[in-house]
Amino acid sequence: MADRAPERTIEALLLEARRFDPPEAFRRQAVLQDPRVYDQAAKDPEGFWASYARELHWFSPWERVLDWTLPYAKWFPGGRTNIAYNALDRHLAARRTKAAIIWEGEPGDERVLTYGDLHREVCKFANVLKRLGVRTGDRVAIYLPMIPELPIAMLACARIGAPHTVVFGGFSAESLRDRMNDAKAKVLVTADGGWRRGKVLPLKRNCDEAVEGAPSVEHVVVVRRAGDAIKIDMREGRDLWWHRLMAEAPLANEAEPLESEHLLYILYTSGTTGKPKGIVHTTGGYMVGTYATTKWVFDLKDEDVFWCTADIGWVTGHSYIVYGPLLNGATEVMYEGTPDFPDKDRFWAIIEKYRVNVLYTAPTAIRTFMKWGPEFPARHDLSSLRLLGTVGEPINPEAWIWYYEHIGKKRCPVVDTWWQTETGMILISPLPGLTTLKPGSATRPLPGIAAEVVNERGQAVGAKEGGYLVLTRPWPAMLRGIYGDPERYQDQYWSRFPNMYFTGDGAKRDEEGYFWLLGRVDDVINVAGHRIGTYEVESALVDHPSVAEAAVIGIEHDVKGQAIAAFVTLKEGNKPGGDAVDTLKQHVVKKIGALARPEQILFTSELPKTRSGKIMRRLLRDIAEGRVLGDTTTLADPTVVEALKTRYEEEAGS
Ligand code: PRX
Repeated sequence: MADRAPERTIEALLLEARRFDPPEAFRRQAVLQDPRVYDQAAKDPEGFWASYARELHWFSPWERVLDWTLPYAKWFPGGRTNIAYNALDRHLAARRTKAAIIWEGEPGDERVLTYGDLHREVCKFANVLKRLGVRTGDRVAIYLPMIPELPIAMLACARIGAPHTVVFGGFSAESLRDRMNDAKAKVLVTADGGWRRGKVLPLKRNCDEAVEGAPSVEHVVVVRRAGDAIKIDMREGRDLWWHRLMAEAPLANEAEPLESEHLLYILYTSGTTGKPKGIVHTTGGYMVGTYATTKWVFDLKDEDVFWCTADIGWVTGHSYIVYGPLLNGATEVMYEGTPDFPDKDRFWAIIEKYRVNVLYTAPTAIRTFMKWGPEFPARHDLSSLRLLGTVGEPINPEAWIWYYEHIGKKRCPVVDTWWQTETGMILISPLPGLTTLKPGSATRPLPGIAAEVVNERGQAVGAKEGGYLVLTRPWPAMLRGIYGDPERYQDQYWSRFPNMYFTGDGAKRDEEGYFWLLGRVDDVINVAGHRIGTYEVESALVDHPSVAEAAVIGIEHDVKGQAIAAFVTLKEGNKPGGDAVDTLKQHVVKKIGALARPEQILFTSELPKTRSGKIMRRLLRDIAEGRVLGDTTTLADPTVVEALKTRYEEEAGS
């Protein structure tokens, strides 16, 4: 366990006394209106999940609902299904001409794909993949901007049983290479570029660099998105244009009847040590979990327009742009760019234009909107909205209230949804037609989910006591492991507390059993909702020839939630002056991607260490956040930290 204190103080949250009941009009039309659903699910969780599984199509029925040999779960073993079939073919009879994806590019271009269109494109791309030699079980890497080809490529993979591994377009060439090597991807799907704040992201160029060191990749399929705005090279034989392949691809493609536990995707995420780990999700359970939670939490109806603003490169986009909404036959908006292009009202313009009913975004975005001011949403008609959601990090009550008032106009419930890449689906969240909301609390575990707050010894703590958030019963979309690393899986999630899944989060419950999430308790930091391991940033820094040692911490940031601060010691003969700070920041961007750029770098001749040589990050956090230094008695040399504190204060004041 790391020496990390939770981010949010329990005391401050306990002062939050505001309550919001579901508006009567909302309650009356809600998907879930009967509170007995919690008890029904608790009494017979397997029967409960099976009832949702039965709403979907199975080529052959499951033999059992769950096989649970800790830490390995099999959901619906023996059953055969296909998640792309369920997301597309299943809807064709009733929804062939219904919009599935309403897409808007950052420059303002638009595309609407009906379920019929999406089905056709997915079938064709499935045939393209097959022609490129991709077989069931082969991994396909996807490094695309937020364009329709991204869900098309993912669903085509799922259709033929080729696990996808999507890499967020903001990651560097090196990060992409490492992920492709870990997954041994056979094909890479990318674009020439993608639009971001009026500029082109050089995706294909990054791919060229990445593929150099990724020998498993046989072909690179390139979508033409940026066109003349960027010059790219196509390597003969290896690189192929998406549109050329699609022009020749046959229309007909039968979805593969896959084992319920067939590997659906690998998604890399940061842990406490080592390189990002490949979180493994499989077909049947993930399908049932994302299907049911989308329906309940977003209260989705056939006539709704849903918009999740996440990038599909993260789990939120996997579960609540690609799989959950399409499994429900929903209409959804997908947007390529940033919220401030060309102006700071872009999100609100999109909501007005497409009459979005349900919006799902992140606290960091909400805090940014707060900073920009309410005049931007006020420019637009947001009356179509009826429900708001948030995800990715704890939401502070002020941001919650701002969202509720300025975006939801006090009409729309706010669902604060807690979950993780590993959980695959939302686990703690209000049910918008049933739950009394408290700003800043994710409220209660969903029906069928068992969560607990425990102390160091794994015992449940009383109300208002802080502790560790654990999950005590398997759930359908849970991770099935870390790709290629069963030991790390066991160690990371199942060893800290016997018979429980350890989330890495701190939490407390109040007297009514509501959960208040307190942030990570390990060496993972959450920058603007993006998860980054301190270890990764430290490794990137020490990779620079001038750096001897580095210690990275998360510091409070009023918009991003947390930001990265690095304490660096340089090798003999290197000077901290000049552009050393910028050089190192750039180096981290090159190694990992812009999302990992440190906010602050402080040079120091020594780092505070215990006598056994362990860097005491807790003290670094005290320094960076201006607190009185905690216990320094275990330090090898207590003067180091005092000197560092003085230096830090001088620099901060200068
Ligand atoms: O610390 C929790 C925080 O985000 C972590 C998971 O990050 P990631 O795997 O990238 O997935 C993010 C999107 C699902 C969690 O361990 N987190 C996520 N949602 C919330 C949250 N913290 C508090 N409240 C939330 N609603």
